[in-house]
Amino acid sequence: MTDRLSPRALRPVAEDIDRRAEQLADGLVARGSFDAVTDLAQDLPVHVITDLIGWPAEGRDQLLDMAAGWFDCSGPACPRTAASVPKVEALMGHLAQVVAEENLVPGGFGWTMLEAHRAGQIPVEGAIGLLAGYVVAAFDTTISALSSAMWLFARHPEQWELLCSETSLVPAAFNEIVRLESPIQVFSRVSTRDVDLGEGVVIPSGARVLHSYGAANRDERHFPAPDRFDIRRNPVDHLAFGYGNHACAGQGLARLEVHAVLNALAARVRRIELADEPVRALNNITRGFRSLPVRVS
Ligand code: HEM
Repeated sequence: MTDRLSPRALRPVAEDIDRRAEQLADGLVARGSFDAVTDLAQDLPVHVITDLIGWPAEGRDQLLDMAAGWFDCSGPACPRTAASVPKVEALMGHLAQVVAEENLVPGGFGWTMLEAHRAGQIPVEGAIGLLAGYVVAAFDTTISALSSAMWLFARHPEQWELLCSETSLVPAAFNEIVRLESPIQVFSRVSTRDVDLGEGVVIPSGARVLHSYGAANRDERHFPAPDRFDIRRNPVDHLAFGYGNHACAGQGLARLEVHAVLNALAARVRRIELADEPVRALNNITRGFRSLPVRVS
């Protein structure tokens, strides 16, 4: 999985991503007003990863909703978690059927999973689980980063002007967006031994520990004035992609997509404004928007 998502493996797709972002930006600028979630943020994450996986053309539309249920499913026992269970069941059933019918385009990431399964390297549930990993991890995370970018720049026009006049700041702006709005707010681990954090705090062995990327990314001991959106800050050591062995495998792809969209917009748009009240997408794990009406000129 990591091989297929490495910067070298992704190099050939970068041009396609840039082209798609430019076409998207042309269409949106011509419209003037649009929803930054459904019309902008969802476009690249959904199309790019389903093309890379080699997903069958039919059934692509339902994937987004099924995948959103996945993150809710990791929450505490509450109505939102319960409501997500049918979506996760539908997603896993759908993936199992695609794998059983070998309904994937040869050469895509999905095909690599099938081949690993056929070669006896992974069991069938491994192939299904890894496919779910691609689909679930790539959607709402990148969609959230893109919609948060539009929200932040609409509220901080001076930062958008700065980006337009200095597009070399695009990678730094991306880091600042995911630091401030951490698309995945929390995950958890189970401790394998007692860990003494000092100051009288010991995490016992076997404890489930909730780690909050969102809180770490606004830790004022590390990021001065943490609530300020400043694209010159370039917080390269933010934790929005996690850390260590299980750090985000798809961060190279996410960067390509968000950089492409910001560059395409910076070349065409002088001003981004909120056209109506944004609506948050409430989720147990992710932070993002359901709807974000904007106007660009
Ligand atoms: C801005 C967008 C994204 C954000 C903020 C994000 C964030 C994260 C975070 C916080 C983790 C967990 C790290 C941990 O457990 O410590 C993770 C894992 C992962 N992400 Fe992403 N992600 C993004 C986009 C993507 C994309 C586009 C893919 C592509 C397929 C992807 C694939 C994965 C995979 C496979 C893992 C699991 C890695 C493992 O457990 O070894 N992510 N991501």
